[in-house]
Amino acid sequence: MNSHINIINFLFFSAFFLVILVNGSSRNLPILSFDEGYSQLFGDDNLMVLKDGKSVHISLNERTGSGFVSQDLYLHGYFSASIKLPSDYTAGVVVAFYMSNGDIYEKNHDEIDFEFLGNIRGKDWRIQTNIYGNGSTSIGREERYGLWFDPSEDFHQYSILWTENQIIFYVDNVPIREIKRTEKMGGDFPSKPMSLYATIWDGSNWATNGGKYKVSYKFAPYIAEFSDFVLHGCAIDPIENSKCEDAPKFSSNSISITRQQRMKMESFRNKHMQYSYCYDHSRYNIPPSECVIDSKEADRLRGFDPVTFGGEVRHHRGKRHHRSRSIGAESSSI
Ligand SMILES: *[C@@H]1O[C@H](CO)[C@@H](O)[C@H](O)[C@H]1NC(C)=O
Repeated sequence: MNSHINIINFLFFSAFFLVILVNGSSRNLPILSFDEGYSQLFGDDNLMVLKDGKSVHISLNERTGSGFVSQDLYLHGYFSASIKLPSDYTAGVVVAFYMSNGDIYEKNHDEIDFEFLGNIRGKDWRIQTNIYGNGSTSIGREERYGLWFDPSEDFHQYSILWTENQIIFYVDNVPIREIKRTEKMGGDFPSKPMSLYATIWDGSNWATNGGKYKVSYKFAPYIAEFSDFVLHGCAIDPIENSKCEDAPKFSSNSISITRQQRMKMESFRNKHMQYSYCYDHSRYNIPPSECVIDSKEADRLRGFDPVTFGGEVRHHRGKRHHRSRSIGAESSSI
């Protein structure tokens, strides 16, 4: 009986992933209204749900940033939002779309991050991805990239696919980074249920050229727009440790990036990646075990400004407004 159900599950979710992979798109997944999936996290009036109920503005002014959080915790799944970033002068402004369970697991939390780093006028936003697993905050696994479009001009889709053995970051359905769980990574691979978060905050001491350029409130409010919410995962109650019975089971057996998608990913990374922790000698004498070093890539990345891309400066995530957030977890994010 059980194995019968497992086979049906397997077939069903193979089909589900095929839909994502063949189309390279999440357009067949249900789009939630803000109230269906999320709640405000902090920032009072700086969060505004639009009339359609499907879009939300979060803003940063001299008083506060703002943010929202998913109502459920998820163990694995596909999570997505369309985001339009503030334009013009945005140095020091950070917009984050990420998963975390730092509120529940203070010492051994997991995290999967998209972070958008503002810039001075005329210079592009940069985007950063990172993961932590089971409190592995002493090992940052950051990568930074430019984009092939201006993310403040229009909405673009940013997505996270997280399974038992794999994490893929997508921009407009192009995979930009794949992280496979390796045995040596051990607990460093996120493995406990997490919530989705979106925040905008003042990252003056870190975000732009290692803190050289601060947020200028002359240009406030800075408004980030979010829409097209997809929360397609296994919702779980971490306290009762409930199993997701009628929710998707994200078996990694059924996922692989198509050859065409992989070529797009490689092309993106060759053109747009500006920093990778794997090549940062100032942080790692010996790169973490999962790194595969390519000397051409090393040469290319060395060309970028060492202050901006050295990644030495620690920062918090603007989550201090969240009442139950622990100080420890906060100060340990890079
Ligand atoms: C995660 O951390 C906890 C507490 O430090 C530890 O007991 C557990 O074995 C770790 N899990 C993994 C998978 O490494």
